[in-house]
Amino acid sequence: MNRREFIFAWWKKKPVYQIYPKSFFDTTGSGTGDLRGVIEKLDHVKSLGAGVIWLTPIYPSPMIDNGYDIADYTAINPLFGTMKDFDELIAEAKRRDIKIVMDLVFNHSSDQHPWFLESKTSRENPKADWYIWRDEKTNWRSIFGGSAWTWCEERGQYYLHTFAKEQPDLNWENPDVRRALFDAANFWLDKGVGGFRIDAIVYIKKPEKFLDGKADAPDGTCAVHNMIANTPGILDFLREFKREVFAGRDIFTVAEANSVKPEELKFWVGNDGVFDMLFEFSHVNVMFNNGDEVWHRSHPIKLSEFKKALSSSQAVTRHSWYPIYFENHDKPRSVNNFFPHGSDKILAAKAMAIILFGLRGTPFIYQGEEIGMTNAAFKTIDEYDDISSRGAYDLARADGLSDKEAMRFVQKFSRDNARTPMQWNSSANAGFTSGKPWLPVHDDFKTCNVEAEEKNPDSVLNFYRKLSALRNSSDVLLRGEYEEIFPTNEEIFPTNEEIFVFTRMLGMKKIIIAVNFTTHDVNLPEKIFDGAKKILGNYPDEKNFLRATEAVIYGN
Ligand code: GLC
Repeated sequence: MNRREFIFAWWKKKPVYQIYPKSFFDTTGSGTGDLRGVIEKLDHVKSLGAGVIWLTPIYPSPMIDNGYDIADYTAINPLFGTMKDFDELIAEAKRRDIKIVMDLVFNHSSDQHPWFLESKTSRENPKADWYIWRDEKTNWRSIFGGSAWTWCEERGQYYLHTFAKEQPDLNWENPDVRRALFDAANFWLDKGVGGFRIDAIVYIKKPEKFLDGKADAPDGTCAVHNMIANTPGILDFLREFKREVFAGRDIFTVAEANSVKPEELKFWVGNDGVFDMLFEFSHVNVMFNNGDEVWHRSHPIKLSEFKKALSSSQAVTRHSWYPIYFENHDKPRSVNNFFPHGSDKILAAKAMAIILFGLRGTPFIYQGEEIGMTNAAFKTIDEYDDISSRGAYDLARADGLSDKEAMRFVQKFSRDNARTPMQWNSSANAGFTSGKPWLPVHDDFKTCNVEAEEKNPDSVLNFYRKLSALRNSSDVLLRGEYEEIFPTNEEIFPTNEEIFVFTRMLGMKKIIIAVNFTTHDVNLPEKIFDGAKKILGNYPDEKNFLRATEAVIYGN
């Protein structure tokens, strides 16, 4: 591939739209979204200018972790439809110039996968070492809470699970395991998928010396993440993955890689790396002090930290590429997450969109983000489906928090905030299903829904469409260099905790973006817009200061 083609690769040009099928659109009345629902709504995705749909897992699964516990890597979960539906989805998407990207969950399988069912029967069976079995356990805490080891009576050993006990970790040291996984990935590529989002990939290599016996975590947090993420030697597995699956195919890959350091990035992404892009977590996890995402130990976000995270990932990917995202199926809604309580939700959703399309990289829109959906905040822990919310609640209670305090963190961080059904119209259940939705619909659906927003030229939805069209036609937004204005110096720039200002430059062309994260007016530090014209903003008119939650794009 020559350099010019690399710069203009198709997956850099248009946004990606992420679909969580279970909550997207139900065509059968089951209360659960399905593949035919995705087919029916392709024109909505197209209207956002998206070129790719990333589907979260649709494989057969007991759904303990909503599909991230896979029981068969090369089939479709009947809950979502059939292989015929899937083939039709690829074809219908292709007619609209949209590619389908699958989620590969290769760190672990379901405990109901035939591989695990066989592996657990004895220490001698043909799949005996397809998972990670030990006689003694360590004190590691799994990501969803509770021990990372579960005792298996049948085999008389413990098995390791980075996530839930129903998600045993696969043993990548075994070449037969790697072969089976690569074959599964190739199966989907041969069907015509456009690439992969690769789940939790930093955990596939386990540090042998810590696995056996009493290798307790030293830091008191006992978090499995801190013990196994990004273990040396992991790149050997990943390079083999690339050779056996991705190489020579016109696809794109984006790996979920919490904890890859900036200086290591060149080995992970770009022409000499393994993947095209990497989801790292620094900007969405600024409220946590280390890789250990304990909700009740979070602190309020400081804007300076958020900006620093964004600016450093922009800097380290200057010669490669970056996925821009603020929401996904694991994170709270960004309006609640990044703006202070009391902010106007519509202004905030539009302000976030300006940053999403304004930074350098491929914007990833998560379903509902484009209509400004907000956190659901259920009242009691029993109303939550998300397995990690229940784990986080138990951990908070064990640490001495009251039910009320623990619930405050669950409401703030639960993954169910992003998983309430997509809001299509103002009819019953927001038009998501004619049955009983698997998770309650957010109560703001009468006003926050696709149909209502279609009709309103000033809606969040129409703002997304404008921004997407603007980016798709702007060389500066597509390729221009990023620079933050007055990044951290409090003395020169006392509004550091209030506004985010950055530029994109290409030759003599310049775009300036400024966002006010407060609920009051903020003066701009200098005449940064001189000579430039307003292109778009979340207020209709212009002032020479920024109003509450105001976001603007200027250009020359
Ligand atoms: C990733 C997924 C998340 C899932 C976990 C375990 O972080 O995004 O939803 O629970 O991996 O597969």
